[in-house]
Amino acid sequence: MTVMPLSSGSLRTIDVELSANPYPVVIGAGGLAALGNQVQARGFKAGTKVLVVTNPVVNAHYGTTALGSLRAAGYDAQLLEIDAGEEQKTPATVALIHDAAFRQKLERGSLIVALGGGVVGDMAGFAAASWLRGIAVVQVPTTLLAMVDAAIGGKTGVNHPGGKNLIGAFHQPRLVLIDPSCLATLPEREFRAGMAEVIKYGVIGDPSLFAELEAAGDQLASMATLPAALMQRILERSAAAKARVVAADEREGGLRAILNYGHTLGHVVEALCGYGTFLHGEAVAIGMVAAGELSCELGLWSPAEQTRQRRVIAAAGLPLAWPDLPPEAVLECLQGDKKVRDGCVRFVLPTALGTVEIRDDVSGKQVLQALARCR
Ligand code: GLY
Repeated sequence: MTVMPLSSGSLRTIDVELSANPYPVVIGAGGLAALGNQVQARGFKAGTKVLVVTNPVVNAHYGTTALGSLRAAGYDAQLLEIDAGEEQKTPATVALIHDAAFRQKLERGSLIVALGGGVVGDMAGFAAASWLRGIAVVQVPTTLLAMVDAAIGGKTGVNHPGGKNLIGAFHQPRLVLIDPSCLATLPEREFRAGMAEVIKYGVIGDPSLFAELEAAGDQLASMATLPAALMQRILERSAAAKARVVAADEREGGLRAILNYGHTLGHVVEALCGYGTFLHGEAVAIGMVAAGELSCELGLWSPAEQTRQRRVIAAAGLPLAWPDLPPEAVLECLQGDKKVRDGCVRFVLPTALGTVEIRDDVSGKQVLQALARCR
């Protein structure tokens, strides 16, 4: 993985080294104002039509900067606002993006820019994947969760009444541009929820990132207390961790499943407590504690390291306790998980800080015993 400075001093690049379609993740304060130049550096000629897709809140803060930067670089840029809550993540909203693409006469060489959180990124990415059988997309994430996870790796799509993200496509972006300054306007609760995915990268593959998070303690709980240099490092390390996994397994044939650490049991929490009770990252935090406990239960992980994981999650201001849920409902929900293969639930379990194993031989009884210790 190469991490190299760009000519513009404070922006750094992590390469996602896919053989067919490699792309850079450019990270640094001031990145948004450089959007036009960054798009130019990816080979898009002046005059290219660009559709910026965003939501009203993000537009109010960052729409003018993004559009101004693109127009200053000579692009024919327009902006579309969509409502982008989880309940609007539907084919009907993607159709609105397609309508705008039609009005603007987007062509094969045109570009869609997703400016916002994971929902905007997933929908704008899917609209780009499907318009004219696929046009380019640039991801400009504005939430911590989208910066460290959703914007990198090419997963795009929408929900179906039968489940989340059931309709979608892999469509890698041409560029991911991350400006940490955008986090200044993110609600603190959402910032903390994003930090759960950062902790995940430490546990699944980067012990020195984990140690750095440990050392930061409760500074992790707020953008206001986290030093800017540490924030930049966290974004770089997280992007590098995600890029490494995606480059090794673009379409989730194997290794990429480790990114689901904390998600299998986290999805149970989200589904049974009602989507919206916990933010996704909060449910992942609870799911990581539960998976850690399950790993200890199976004798795969040391309780001392599970305690360290718990401490970092608590320091980041995230929930740890497994909610009071009926055991039969938990087991039934696990069986419905879309990551079930041949009827076996696959758990990503830590065996040491920085190393995980995928196991599909865990009994329902072992799961419930571990969850009882997380209450
Ligand atoms: N968010 C998990 C993945 O990108 O594979």
